[in-house]
Amino acid sequence: MINSKRINIKIKDQKFRKSLSLDKPTLMERYKIMYKETFQTSPPGSSANVIFQSKNIIKHKTVLDLGCGAGRLSLYASKYAKHVTGIDYIDKAIEYSNKFTKMCNVKNVDFLVGDIDFLKEDKYDVIMMAEVLQHVDNPLKTLKKCKKLLNKNGHLIISIPSFNNFRGTVWLTLQSLFNLPMSLTDTFQISADDMQSMCQKTGFKITKLIGTAWDWAWTEWGIDDLKRRVFLATTDAKLVQIADFKAMNKWLESNLTFNKQFINYLVNNKIIKKRPTDTLLKIPKNANIKEKKYLDDGNTKVNLYYCDTLPFNRMGEGTTYILKKI
Ligand SMILES: C[S@@+](CC[C@H](N)C(=O)[O-])C[C@H]1O[C@@H](n2cnc3c(N)ncnc32)[C@H](O)[C@@H]1O
Repeated sequence: MINSKRINIKIKDQKFRKSLSLDKPTLMERYKIMYKETFQTSPPGSSANVIFQSKNIIKHKTVLDLGCGAGRLSLYASKYAKHVTGIDYIDKAIEYSNKFTKMCNVKNVDFLVGDIDFLKEDKYDVIMMAEVLQHVDNPLKTLKKCKKLLNKNGHLIISIPSFNNFRGTVWLTLQSLFNLPMSLTDTFQISADDMQSMCQKTGFKITKLIGTAWDWAWTEWGIDDLKRRVFLATTDAKLVQIADFKAMNKWLESNLTFNKQFINYLVNNKIIKKRPTDTLLKIPKNANIKEKKYLDDGNTKVNLYYCDTLPFNRMGEGTTYILKKI
């Protein structure tokens, strides 16, 4: 039965939320505000997943981490790589990166403030771009740039969100029908077919496509994220008056049992597998709780599953692509 009574969803940090509204026209401005509040700008488990899939590729190699944020992935990569360079266009992010490097006493990494589009063309063996390509102005141009920055036979490792799942279907339905701003920072939703076509145009071959972030795609995490996101997007779109959040949330929750059965089926049939948890960085005792949480992504309990079997590998909330320059 549909109940049209509105509910009051409380957003903890009203001031932060307001400052991050659509009034800020550029992505850079929004990221600037975000980094004033937090250094955790990617989903839990995302850096650990990328490292798990790429540690053999980066071994003893020179690595460029584009859009490195607060530097967690670069620091993880430094455990295996010869040298890692992390670049981000937000100076506060690079400030955090340098702070964490010092705290964790990592030597073979350096961080620079820079815009992907204006980098001078040094050469690297591997480029990593984790949760970045969906934000840039022109993903095709960025891939072309990456090709120029790579040595012969170099690898490009990309992680981006995927929408072939429960969360993604709700997201894209609302976004395409009502133009709801479901994310304040995603410029594009890039499907596996889009990636294939961009690779053909730029001279890359997809050697592996791995589906990750299954909790965000199908279970409580994704459903909680949707509840929050739909409310905020509806508010930003000034459609609150016609929205029935209670009914929406009830319907979202009603999918949980089936979604979990689906995930259990994939687990029981070994279609999705669990990556081991791992301590990827020596975190000093003086790190505070937030810093520990951020730096200890390898031991995060969510988003541990991955899948490299077609067609299921498209159905996580995240996709990691291993591309080879051809
Ligand atoms: C979602 S965050 C991901 C951060 C990090 N890679 C991670 O996985 O935690 C995206 C990052 O890309 C950076 N970024 C976006 N566009 C960029 C550009 N054109 N040049 C440099 N950095 C950029 C943002 O500042 C932000 O730190």
